[in-house]
Amino acid sequence: MSNYHIKTFEEYFHIYRKSVREPENFWEEVAEEHFVWRKRWDNVLRWDFSKPEIAWFEGAQLNITENCLDRHLRTRGDKTAILFEPNNPNEPAQHITYTELYERVCKMANVLKAKGIKKGDRVCIYLPMIPELSVALLACARIGAIHSVVFAGFSSTALSTRINDSSCKMVITSDGSYRGNKSIDLKGIVDEALEQCPTVESVLVVNRVGSSIHMEQGRDEWIQPLLDAAQPHCEPEVMEAEDPLFILYTSGSTGKPKGMVHTTAGYMVFIAYTFKNIFQYREPDIFWCTADIGWITGHSYIVYGPLLNGATSVLFEGVPSYPDFGRFWEIVEKHSITHFYTAPTAIRALAKEDLNYVEKYNLSSLKVLGSVGEPINEEAWHWYNDHVGKKKSPIVDTWWQTETGGILISPIPYVTPTKPTYATLPLPGIQPALMDENGQEIKGNQVDGRLCVKFPWPSMARTIWGDHERYRTTYFTAFEGKYFTGDGALRDEVGYYRITGRVDDVIIVSGHNLGTAPIEDAINEHPAVAESAIVGFPHDVKGNALYGFVMLKDVGEVRDRDNLRKEINQQISDRIGPIAKLDKIQFVEGLPKTRSGKIMRRILRKIAGNETENLGDTSTLLDPEVVQQIIKDRL
Ligand code: WTA
Repeated sequence: MSNYHIKTFEEYFHIYRKSVREPENFWEEVAEEHFVWRKRWDNVLRWDFSKPEIAWFEGAQLNITENCLDRHLRTRGDKTAILFEPNNPNEPAQHITYTELYERVCKMANVLKAKGIKKGDRVCIYLPMIPELSVALLACARIGAIHSVVFAGFSSTALSTRINDSSCKMVITSDGSYRGNKSIDLKGIVDEALEQCPTVESVLVVNRVGSSIHMEQGRDEWIQPLLDAAQPHCEPEVMEAEDPLFILYTSGSTGKPKGMVHTTAGYMVFIAYTFKNIFQYREPDIFWCTADIGWITGHSYIVYGPLLNGATSVLFEGVPSYPDFGRFWEIVEKHSITHFYTAPTAIRALAKEDLNYVEKYNLSSLKVLGSVGEPINEEAWHWYNDHVGKKKSPIVDTWWQTETGGILISPIPYVTPTKPTYATLPLPGIQPALMDENGQEIKGNQVDGRLCVKFPWPSMARTIWGDHERYRTTYFTAFEGKYFTGDGALRDEVGYYRITGRVDDVIIVSGHNLGTAPIEDAINEHPAVAESAIVGFPHDVKGNALYGFVMLKDVGEVRDRDNLRKEINQQISDRIGPIAKLDKIQFVEGLPKTRSGKIMRRILRKIAGNETENLGDTSTLLDPEVVQQIIKDRL
């Protein structure tokens, strides 16, 4: 029996038990059978969660792009690797074969080398969803440079913070991007960001929208002429197993974003394995993940996972609502898509629209549906199952995080019986644990607690760039000897997991993780604001929306409150990005604080969610009057 491809539920249990009994042997078998290595490992796993130190396949040498590209050339050279669907439905789709992708990656790798980029250098990629984005990631990996992709919806301030945190030497961007009927001036955002970024020596610019932009002499260059002149072959840099492959930033509950560092061999093995099993991918299936490559979902399941398996991966530039709400389904029909992987927020948004948008397309090619990014509510699950999957395509509700690199808990389609809103069972090699408030593991079923993982898996992040101590305290100190996810979960009577949501100060809005602290910092920078507190409240499309309680310095001074609300949101948009804007802003005279001065967000969450009957224990409040006033003025 191959460990690599699970086909029945019995096989799943058998493999799972084996993977827990002998994790090293399990992952060694997977690694041996399915990849190209320049040198074999000396040691499968070395770990110590107290430091924390995690190393997989030490001693091995490889290049992940040889596994994504070179080894497919002989057998799949003419197969489509990337199927690019542009924003504008009238612009033709592009089928980029494995051979073409190989050559484009090698050319870009040669361009990067010629610009002085070497192994270990950080390259920031700030691009829309166009083929050059995938090519840029792979070109970095080809030469051993560490890519740091920043989602192209982030503001210039957010971009410069990320560039500076990892001292990037280069930025790859485009003149602009298309989203629906808008075009966005990406290069202008980069120019603004780079005023604060001393380490950036060069900027390569992809021509996407053909706008006239400022090109900084000696720093900026159009990339196309350089690519045209470059050689289509580039020897891959030989990487050590634990050499960093990429950095990807995620929001923390406090402080600046965390640059999660993923390394080469373990990430490759785990992502290839999970892609194969969780999607039951078989040639010639056409796989579409609608995420942006700026997030971990895109890294792992648009770029690396599909290419490691020789799959065809769809890259969509646009948005689900343009030119109308049928766009997703039109694309599914047009390209006979077999696998469709999206986020609950997109499903909820589309479920609000006329059913005819879905029903007018032929979706019979679909075999597997996926969900990721936040808990999927029952209603959205059923809409997805009934109207998209026509009750014949299993839904894989995949739970994971930027930090975990790949999917940890998910049904396996056609193998694991699904249950609405449940991510169901851990993948082989994954050992979840539910913990109580006293730090004890809760055994047995029909229980709930904080979700931890007890044993390392190959694709876990190894550190936070430049701040290992923060990595330790954030993930390994809440529960000794365990990785703490920040999520709560329950385990039902048969052992299925349901993720109930964050238990920390991270709020997931439309599938995007937002930390409360950076938003509050942005608000507090407004000259009229004294202090603020942000909480999430239920929203029927976004899952959660943001509610801000804002205390002003001098209430009498402010005449136009609506204008102030606009200014506050503009400030957030400038500092972080439009995704972090507040839906509601309530001006308050005081915030509920404990005697030790800590804001009691628990109470604010209840007020924002209109659950004011039962506020819980308020005995530690310094001034209970404040709460009554806030309830009275609730928006
Ligand atoms: C949440 C996205 C419930 C969770 C891959 C996690 C989910 C955070 C699910 C990570 C799911 C992700 N069900 N909640 N299927 N998938 N989450 O880093 O709170 O952007 O901790 O990674 O999203 O978000 P991130």
